[in-house]
Amino acid sequence: MAFHTQVRNVDPASISFQGDSLVISNPESKSHLVQAAEILKTSADPVAFPTETVYGLGGSALNTEAVKNIYKSKNRPADNPLILHVSSVDQLKRKLLPNTDIPPVYLPLIKKFWPGPLTILLPVPGNTEISPATTVGQPTFAVRLPAHPVARALIALSDLPLAAPSANTSTRPSPTLARHVYKDLQGKIPLILDGGPCDVGVESTVVDGLSNPPVLLRPGGVSAEDIMKYGGEAWRNLVIAKGEIKDNEVAKTPGMKYKHYSPTAMVVLFKNCGADLVPVENYLKGYIENNKSATGSKIALLASLNFDPDQSKKILAPYNVDVFDLGNSAKEMSRNLFAELRRLDEEDYSLILVEGVDETNDGLAVMNRLTKASSHVIDGSTK
Ligand code: TXA
Ligand code: MG
Repeated sequence: MAFHTQVRNVDPASISFQGDSLVISNPESKSHLVQAAEILKTSADPVAFPTETVYGLGGSALNTEAVKNIYKSKNRPADNPLILHVSSVDQLKRKLLPNTDIPPVYLPLIKKFWPGPLTILLPVPGNTEISPATTVGQPTFAVRLPAHPVARALIALSDLPLAAPSANTSTRPSPTLARHVYKDLQGKIPLILDGGPCDVGVESTVVDGLSNPPVLLRPGGVSAEDIMKYGGEAWRNLVIAKGEIKDNEVAKTPGMKYKHYSPTAMVVLFKNCGADLVPVENYLKGYIENNKSATGSKIALLASLNFDPDQSKKILAPYNVDVFDLGNSAKEMSRNLFAELRRLDEEDYSLILVEGVDETNDGLAVMNRLTKASSHVIDGSTK
């Protein structure tokens, strides 16, 4: 179906929650939120909205047609389950867990990190209304309570748990601005709520506390260290899954490069190099030698903690590299990462070199996304 995609502003500062009750002081923001909630309640069309992590593409998790339309608009493989989003713990219990309790293992994490970028797996109760298209027939469902006022207000107004993956076309970098969503999904969805830039910039952390020991399935906005610190006894043994949950697309087509979070440009990740630019220079020599026909193609370096921007500009000048700053902490890198990959794509760069960061605290999620976006990883510690 073709849509004339509307982009509507909602001011997050005009939204407040008094207890679980919602107040929206700006009339224009309120009418846009009401419009979005009406679409979700009365049709099966998906609506894009900001969360504190990335923009999401939402539809009622209780409506199979709505969930199928999400997969269709973003071209997502139908065997990758979606995260459900609720506006309060009360709504979670009322709509999704009518006769069951939240497993106690999660209570300290919920207390500490909700609302926020933490997703937990819960057992799908018997007689559930959750559409099997959301869970892909798994015995568990993933759920989070987002901290972004616009996301929470939309879910509260519609009183629907929303299934919502990131609002990008599958394989593209996740969207952290309404403009990114528009670029990917224009004509495919009726409405995008614009609440400004996302603060976290990478997706939520996904944890499974139902298995023993508990597993971190996807690193994200809450660090593994903080989960171990605040989760209580059981979480001290947290195991970090190797890579993300199996991507069935890859399993079905072995040998194909695992593509995720990818701009059109080729991305090369440099890790454990310290301030040493020699590995970058060596890579560029080879690249230029092998791509003589591509003279004039644009090359960017995203420098972070150790590569000095001025020094890099000087040393890499012979290779015609434009140097940009990705941020001075892993948190800043998370916030800027997807937006920078998209910007360099729009500016027609064909090669993006990125300086990595230690895989501790917020660095783990950054390196997970960067590794997936990269065609090559060059490790300065294995020379
Ligand atoms: O920050 C976020 O989580 C964003 C925003 C929009 O909230 N959403 C997001 O959704 O990243 P998505 O669909 O792109 O990622 C869902 C992740 C995938 O890694 C999926 O495999 C996993 O959650 N997942 C969902 N349900 C699961 C389940 N029952 N068991 C294991 N993994 C599950
Ligand atoms: Mg995604």
